[in-house]
Amino acid sequence: MAIQWFPGHMNSTRRAILDRAKDIDVVIELLDARLPGSSLNPLLAELTRGKPALKVLNKQDLADPERTALWLSHYNALPATQALGLDASITAPSQRLIAACRALAPLRGGMTKPLRVLICGIPNVGKSTLINTLVGRKATKTGDEPGITKLEQKIVLASDVYLFDTPGMLWPRITVPQSGYHLAASGGIGRNAYNEEEVALDLLNCVNRNYPGRIAERFRLPDMSALTDEEQLTEIAKKRGAIQSGGRVNLQKAAEILMGEFRTGGLGLVTLEVPAEMAQWQAEAEVAEAARREKKKKKVGASE
Ligand code: G4P
Repeated sequence: MAIQWFPGHMNSTRRAILDRAKDIDVVIELLDARLPGSSLNPLLAELTRGKPALKVLNKQDLADPERTALWLSHYNALPATQALGLDASITAPSQRLIAACRALAPLRGGMTKPLRVLICGIPNVGKSTLINTLVGRKATKTGDEPGITKLEQKIVLASDVYLFDTPGMLWPRITVPQSGYHLAASGGIGRNAYNEEEVALDLLNCVNRNYPGRIAERFRLPDMSALTDEEQLTEIAKKRGAIQSGGRVNLQKAAEILMGEFRTGGLGLVTLEVPAEMAQWQAEAEVAEAARREKKKKKVGASE
């Protein structure tokens, strides 16, 4: 499935980040701890090359702790990078972020050389929640529709620590299909950009593979391991009363229910991907991209 996601403000955001990056000491990238590879923006590293990075695996309270540990080691092994897990709504741990930024840019701080931090992350990853927690008041709008453009804000976290907030930014094209599904399941992609049933079927498959029995347990259904993903979604629809007039099951509604459960932690502690798997998906996507480019080149050549 191709996820059709072309946020209109992407180019302006890209320019804003490039401009801002010149005067930045540390880049915080908020990742969703349930999809720590898919929620990473490949463009961000390119736009902020050479800047120390703090990867924050947010919503760790909803993620599988063993998998969070794998991802933290993965990111901590990268040069000039530190990673930590977070629940953005809790104040004391959120304050650790400031300490981590100071450690990443030890030469900055004090009134003459304030520490300048850029914060980025996909929609719904918890950026507004984190900023609100850090400043102790409602500093930013929280909206649940991904892709809402917001202007850059400068937030004073301490007399010598400034946080620059950028609007959400995504990819021009999502090349790893699994990442598209995971981003859509998490709410990081606007709902018009994908087919809910397809995303829900992928989510069912992924949860069943990694956490057998979890779905049946949550929906209080008997063992469903012999059923196909479609049959399982049908059972969920029946169990939760997602029935259309005429008695037909409403799979679209069932898909929304399942994704809602995932987003709010109803399926328990779930992480959809591990680093090794992600590396393999990326390698496969690169091969597919190369083939796509080659095909395009041939088509252009033939029409000339
Ligand atoms: P954004 O600015 O990055 O777009 O995200 P935002 O802070 O609006 O957060 C999106 C949703 O994720 C919010 O839930 C928020 O409460 C939740 N959230 C943020 N950080 C965490 C976290 O660390 N753990 C958990 N469990 N949830 C987190 P919502 O239902 O859309 O809004 P609300 O009802 O909480 O206001």
